[in-house]
Formats: sequence, C-alpha cells, structure tokens
Amino acid sequence: MKGMLSPSLMCADMLNLQSEITILDNLGVEYIHLDFMDGKFVPNITLDASLIKSVKSVLNNMKRDIHIMAFEPQNYFDRMEIGKDDIVSVHLEACSDLHAVIENIRSRNARPFAAISPDTPAYALKDYLSEIDGVLVMTVYPGFAGQPIAKGSFEKICEVRKIIDDSGKNLILEVDGHVSWDLCKKMRDCGADLFVAGSSSVYSKGMGIEEAVKKMRNLIS
Ligand code: DX5
Ligand code: ZN
Repeated sequence: MKGMLSPSLMCADMLNLQSEITILDNLGVEYIHLDFMDGKFVPNITLDASLIKSVKSVLNNMKRDIHIMAFEPQNYFDRMEIGKDDIVSVHLEACSDLHAVIENIRSRNARPFAAISPDTPAYALKDYLSEIDGVLVMTVYPGFAGQPIAKGSFEKICEVRKIIDDSGKNLILEVDGHVSWDLCKKMRDCGADLFVAGSSSVYSKGMGIEEAVKKMRNLIS
C-alpha cells in the first residue's frame, strides 16, 4: 500500500505525548514512528525503551513503527515488548548477525525491516530481501531530527525500489529524514511507500497537526 504516514514522535511535544498520539490515531494515521538511540551507534539518546513499550497501551488503530538506532538491537526487544504488527527497523550497520535479529523479530510476530544509513550502498540489502517485510532508507544521517537531506538520497530510493521490484517481493519502502513538504512528492515518485514525517513537515512550526496531516496526505497519496 502506498502513501502511508508515520509521524516521528521524537519531534512531538514531549510534555503532551499521549494527547499527540491520540490525535494522530483519530486522524487515521497508520503508524507512529518511535526512535530509539543508544548513544553509541548514534551520538544521541531519545525515546527510551519503557516509553516505547507504554505507547502500546494508548493505541487504537495506529501501529508502532519502531526504529532502533543501537548496536545489537535484540537486547532491547523485551523492554519494548515487541509484538504483533510492530514494524521493527534495525540497522545493517549495527548488527553482528542480522539474520538472527530478523528471525528474533519474526518469532515475536512483528515485522522486520532492514534500515540503511546514507553511506551504506543499496546492494547491501540483497542478502536479506527474502527474510524482511520492508526497508528503511535513511535520507539523513541517523541520530537527530531537523537535518538537511543527505546527498544522493533520491538516487538511493530509486535504487532500493529497483532492487525490491527485481526481487519480486512485496516489500514496503520507508523513508526517514527530512521528509519535507517540498521533497516528499519526489520521494514518492522515486518509489517510497511509507513516510516518516518529522520537523520538516507534520511537526513543522506554525501549523496545527490536523492541517499538517491533511497536507501531507495530499502530497504523498
Ligand atoms: C533521525 C530519526 C528520524 C527523525 C526525523 O535519526 O530516525 O525519525 O526523527 O526527523 P526529521 O523529519 O526532522 O528529519
Ligand atoms: Zn527514525
């Protein structure tokens, strides 16, 4: 399915998270993007594992889209209570045995996605296509919101889309980082299906969340 939305909770109002989540859920947004960082794989810490677990209890229809920017991400799955329907994106660059991590996510009835940072070539995904449900293409260097798009991002999205199509697998292509008002359409045209919306769109200053979601929906569908 194309044109799906995943607002990035780390860009939301940290003092009103539950109400922000409920507004998105009521607007029919498909996913909530939950960034976890270990301070080692990336030099930052954001949402912690227990908060990511707690999000489960306030969701109606919206699903969790968990992006783990940490070495050996499997060490955090229990604390996050990874389970049915969760998208769990883990970085190729951060796992000593990605096949085992993918299998671990599957064993919890969750949906494994392979995430690649801007400097990781698209062909690195090829060994995993038969085991995953999707790919997370980082269009900024992981670790912080509000960054400019990484050079070569559109070519990367097109390349990953071609690799997925050539494989015959029905995988979701998710894009994450500077998914802005003026660039999201081009990302869609390059083959993106799921859009992480952060500080350069849904959480951009000066626009209400309802209006921003509507605007984003029109641009990406
Ligand atoms: C960055 C995170 C992104 C980030 C997106 O490492 O993975 O999800 O929150 O924020 P923007 O859209 O501002 O780049
Ligand atoms: Zn993310």
